[in-house]
Amino acid sequence: MSKILVLHGPNLNLLGIREPDMYGSETLVGINGQLKGKITAAGHEFEAFQSNAEHELVDKVQSARGNTAFIIINPGAFTHTSVALRDALTGVSIPFIEVHLSNIFKREEFRRHSYFTDVAEGSIVGLGSLGYSLAVEAALQHLSKKV
Ligand code: DQA
Repeated sequence: MSKILVLHGPNLNLLGIREPDMYGSETLVGINGQLKGKITAAGHEFEAFQSNAEHELVDKVQSARGNTAFIIINPGAFTHTSVALRDALTGVSIPFIEVHLSNIFKREEFRRHSYFTDVAEGSIVGLGSLGYSLAVEAALQHLSKKV
């Protein structure tokens, strides 16, 4: 049994309310519930954490060292700004997948660069909440190859 940590960055607590045409109508609680179902059904442990504060996300990644096998992260706006969060992820050497509900490459110029894509196992963009489920599937496959 391994732990999969799902991290949500700033403003993702507003899912369901925030720009539903862009980010969909599902809430964060709803999305986490679905992911928990898939992960626990596969015999693994699920943890989710959302924060609007960069340092809290950095602290969470650091505390995952030694107890977490895989991270799924939507860094929200920190995608485009946070060297600190990128450094935390590379620093703990935990494989991770980057997820974005919207297609960041189809939007404003400033969203087209991610500090995470080149150090992630993979990135999923533009598929709404399905992206998280696909990331869980990939994480489970990754874990099954490890044991
Ligand atoms: C986002 C895309 C980011 O550019 C934005 O700041 C978000 C959400 C997405 O899931 O599409 O907060 O990460």
